[in-house]
Amino acid sequence: MEFSGKTAIITGAASGMGLLSGQRMAAEGANVVLTDVNEDGVKAAAADIRQSGGEAIGVRADVTDYEQIAHAVELTMKTYGRVDILLNNAGGAPSRVFGRPEGFKDRDIELLDWGIDVNLKGAVLFSRAVIGHMIEQKTGVIINMGSIEGVTGSGAVEYSAAKSGMIGLTKSLALYGAPYGVRACCVSPGPVLTRPAMANMKTLLGRAAEPGEICDFILYLCSDKAAFITGSHHLIDGGRSCGAP
Ligand SMILES: NC(=O)c1ccc[n+]([C@@H]2O[C@H](COP(=O)([O-])OP(=O)(O)OC[C@H]3O[C@@H](n4cnc5c(N)ncnc54)[C@H](O)[C@@H]3O)[C@@H](O)[C@H]2O)c1
Repeated sequence: MEFSGKTAIITGAASGMGLLSGQRMAAEGANVVLTDVNEDGVKAAAADIRQSGGEAIGVRADVTDYEQIAHAVELTMKTYGRVDILLNNAGGAPSRVFGRPEGFKDRDIELLDWGIDVNLKGAVLFSRAVIGHMIEQKTGVIINMGSIEGVTGSGAVEYSAAKSGMIGLTKSLALYGAPYGVRACCVSPGPVLTRPAMANMKTLLGRAAEPGEICDFILYLCSDKAAFITGSHHLIDGGRSCGAP
């Protein structure tokens, strides 16, 4: 019960790695606040966790809307009295999420805005909303979900730019939070099998990651075992960033 007595907020928690991280944290004793634009999804997921003996609530929070973020944090404080972990996980490449493969010069401005707002600005806003509470508690961890594409660049130009920004955000939060016992780390996965198409992306190890392989590492970074780790960026990419052999 690694996270007994701790409270975690997770964004983009209705599916994929956000949902799995929430389920695993709850299984380790955390009070989990699952947030997403998919309100039905997070409410159903929270009910499942409660049914299996864990503690969770599901709250609608669009990471591009500060009022909804502030409401989710307020509800967390009212329900559990503290926030120890923030996993800024909501995101995705607009071309993949909306099935819009057109190249950068033809991409709608709305898609570019979505890519930056959900993948970067949302994490800035959510971090702003929780860090005061973490500072007051003198403890807390913020994990930002990056991507291999934020390191190598990709055809998803706005996505890669936003994910690169997550590294700078992480280092800045680490500098800001360190005097108060608040840590921040960035995790950048290579292809992960939350989407079947990711099986086609090459890695040195010849396969994509299982979602659990990424979530295990996120949980480690959130735990007290990682108390000396902050400001760091962690690629989990099966060697994809190494280039051609
Ligand atoms: N799957 C991969 O191969 C891969 C690789 C590298 C990085 N990532 C990153 O990992 C994170 C999770 O990816 P996943 O594959 O589990 O994705 P997923 O599509 O299963 O989950 C993303 C969640 O974000 C939610 N979301 C979308 N817009 C939102 C908004 N405005 N506010 C709140 N929630 C919103 C969606 O409803 C969804 O539940 C993303 O940030 C993604 O960019 C994924």
